[in-house]
Amino acid sequence: MTFLVFLGAPGSGKGTQAQNLVLTYPDMFAHISTGDLLRQEVKKKSEAALRLQMDISAGNFISDDIIFDLMEEKIKTIDDSKKIILDGFPRTFDQAQRLLDFVKKTGKRLEKVVYFGIADELLFDRLSGRMTCNECGAVYHQTAMPERCSCGSTSFRVRADDNENVIRNRLEIFHAETEPLVSYYEAQRVLFRVDAAQSIDGIKQELLKVLGL
Ligand code: AP5
Ligand code: MG
Repeated sequence: MTFLVFLGAPGSGKGTQAQNLVLTYPDMFAHISTGDLLRQEVKKKSEAALRLQMDISAGNFISDDIIFDLMEEKIKTIDDSKKIILDGFPRTFDQAQRLLDFVKKTGKRLEKVVYFGIADELLFDRLSGRMTCNECGAVYHQTAMPERCSCGSTSFRVRADDNENVIRNRLEIFHAETEPLVSYYEAQRVLFRVDAAQSIDGIKQELLKVLGL
């Protein structure tokens, strides 16, 4: 089993591209979005779930222990032959260290880190128009909505953290905590950049080249 990390600001298209790769190459890739795992947890309506919901809605990070436990459980359900796209993890140096320890301990490999580079100004329209499938978490935009999600559901919603103030907070946290990972992975020679300001299809073509497909 190998890992690919998708690193980038909120709205840079990590989820869209990961979703697309899994639809195109279902036997090759699996997608783990830590944000999606957390939103599934929130549906449980426990006291812990309510606390999670409050932090996510404010755009704040969730504790490393919660994130890592959810991720480890999910990894166990995925066929060993697949490449796992980690979307939204790691987001801090501590999380990057945990991933490194996990990879060493389990004999897996971190193959590539793809950085979705884009200016902040372009992200507001993308995020404020995002629609998310209520069943599977698939991502669309209100300007290009299908009648049905690829999972068959017709129920979509706006994410609680996709409003202007929270988007600003998420971007601030991204620049402070997550962006420094770009040079960290660059120094390890595993970093590849894609221009995330272009169209969904343009990014896909660049990504396929990076992934050797
Ligand atoms: P998460 O769900 O990961 O949110 P995020 O990091 O803010 O990233 P997004 O999902 O918003 O952006 P994306 O890059 O996936 O964009 P998308 O493809 O959807 O995390 C949510 C929260 O959970 C965090 O804030 C935090 O609280 C917590 N959390 C998660 N992981 C954590 C961790 N590791 N540690 C601690 N806390 C954690 O695209 C966005 C929109 O743009 C869509 O509408 C899409 O259709 C559109 N779009 C995509 N690409 C293009 C394009 N090329 N051109 C035009 N439109 C496009
Ligand atoms: Mg996402």
